[in-house]
Amino acid sequence: MRVYDHPILGKLPDRKEITILVDGKKIKAYEDETIATAILASGIKTLRYTSEKHEPRGIFCAIGQCTDCVMEVNGQPNVRTCITPVEENMVIATQQGLGTWRKVSSKKK
Ligand code: FES
Repeated sequence: MRVYDHPILGKLPDRKEITILVDGKKIKAYEDETIATAILASGIKTLRYTSEKHEPRGIFCAIGQCTDCVMEVNGQPNVRTCITPVEENMVIATQQGLGTWRKVSSKKK
């Protein structure tokens, strides 16, 4: 869910719509928003699973301090998605434990 017209902050400015890939699924995002914002707006709440108990984690601090929101982004684990802006065709994966470095290929147009 997105707030397009906030009662105090006003209307959301027009921004370019882009697409990111999250666990193989195309998600709509807007330029200049964070990865976590786009993912939460799509309805996904779990961003990673803890390494020992495999418990789900999502946004906690939303200011880049707690690391609860880390995900694998373009093959790089432990990216704090609450402070990382989206980019067209980013490949993002729910992180399991400490994450894994992966070689990814994104198709850029
Ligand atoms: S939610 Fe705390 S670092 Fe992202």
